[in-house]
Amino acid sequence: MALRRIASASLALGIVGSLAGATGAFASDTATSSIAAYTLIAPTSEVPSGLLARAVIASGAGCPALSGSTGAGRTFALRMQLRPKPALAGAAYSAVEVCERGIPVDTVSAMVGSRVIPAALPRRIERIAISGDSGCRITSWEVQDCSNTSAWPLARISRNMAKDNPDVIINLGDYFYREAVCPADNQSLCASSPPPPGNLPVTGSAMGWIADALIPMQPVFDAAPILMLRGNHESCARGGIGFFLFFSPQRSTALQCAPSIVDGAVVVPSDDISPTWHVSWQVGASDATAHTLDLEVIDSAYGQDGTVSSFAAIQRSSYVAAASHVSKSRPDEAWLLTHRPIFGMTSTQLTNGGPVWNSADQAAAAQGLLGGFSLLLSSHIHVAQAVNIPGQPGQIVLGNGASSLFPATGYDTPSYGPLSNLDGSTLSPLATPYPAPTSTWTDVRFGYAIATPGARSTSWTLEHRDDRGRPFALCAVARRSANCRSTS
Ligand SMILES: [Fe+2]
Ligand SMILES: [Fe+2]
Repeated sequence: MALRRIASASLALGIVGSLAGATGAFASDTATSSIAAYTLIAPTSEVPSGLLARAVIASGAGCPALSGSTGAGRTFALRMQLRPKPALAGAAYSAVEVCERGIPVDTVSAMVGSRVIPAALPRRIERIAISGDSGCRITSWEVQDCSNTSAWPLARISRNMAKDNPDVIINLGDYFYREAVCPADNQSLCASSPPPPGNLPVTGSAMGWIADALIPMQPVFDAAPILMLRGNHESCARGGIGFFLFFSPQRSTALQCAPSIVDGAVVVPSDDISPTWHVSWQVGASDATAHTLDLEVIDSAYGQDGTVSSFAAIQRSSYVAAASHVSKSRPDEAWLLTHRPIFGMTSTQLTNGGPVWNSADQAAAAQGLLGGFSLLLSSHIHVAQAVNIPGQPGQIVLGNGASSLFPATGYDTPSYGPLSNLDGSTLSPLATPYPAPTSTWTDVRFGYAIATPGARSTSWTLEHRDDRGRPFALCAVARRSANCRSTS
């Protein structure tokens, strides 16, 4: 795979050289260097190839060209288009502009300006890198050491994940964590971190996104196409404007978090979940076991974690759409991707004696709609975790992607299920409790996971790796359950 990419890269370099001479319009564009460039997995309803090239550039620099070649030997050079920016985002996002263009079907090499980007998915996917919860936390009550690559190891994780040569990458959301001015007594940890904009009711800014995601994630951007979820840190009042500018794969969502003026005050939307979208991949360890994997992508940026609220009824439409697409398309297997877990446990050190089950609104919203799925993949809780609830798909949580970890202990298997109180009674009149789990596993270390398909159509091995790329745990995913053990 790596050799193939290097070969394609040099091929593409030659192509751009000749195109720049042949097409005066692109001559200066090809020299533009971007702040970041990457290939997003996008719905094929919007981009036929399912791959969208993005470049983040300095404002006014002009969009670079997307150039490359196809399997049929054809070369192309296409003008990238500016992604719209919310007008009232003003100074907070004035430093950058974002350019985008769908990558043509059958592309084998691609460049944005002079930068090589992943051009295609392999015909059969056999290596998926997965992580979530990655930004450097700066709040008034907790500050991570953003300058220490052991205390905030996103750059290190990105490098090691890239070295593992994934075919595709899934990021489960929560990228933006620089939500406060660096406290005066913590200057040694976060001095010069971009502060929240003072003129908007949001915490995110372009410079904050550059520090928290765009620079440290470049190795994974170079490694493979990436599927990005929206986390609660990307709600409109937090990093949402940046998420929809940089990472949302739909062309239609650029302005989803656009501020507006109501009664003289600047406001941003809330509870603005995006429609569920999906992708379908051929996966398998060999041609003989190749099969279809459908991924349903839920926007769970909102909702309550400890209680069931009226929002669960709004969120339910996301899970109805996912279930109905799976039942219509009948893939060989289907995974549900949602930032907030359906069945995730937090530490008893954080629950004040209450139930450990997290994301109650998601557990309620998804009730009765998970029959078509073999696996639930989430993050949000800053640990690596697996939970099996009778009759439900196994849940894997991968929230250990560099943001400050949750407590190291307090994850004993509870005797009561999600949406229950400790004595098993109903948490909320709005939802029915699930049964108690048959097994749980939690390991609190920074890292990511590599999923590889097994011989059977719905069996997978998921290897957890730490921030230095060293394996530390192994999960067997089969027959709708996820069984993990720590190995070091
Ligand atoms: Fe998080
Ligand atoms: Fe989260």
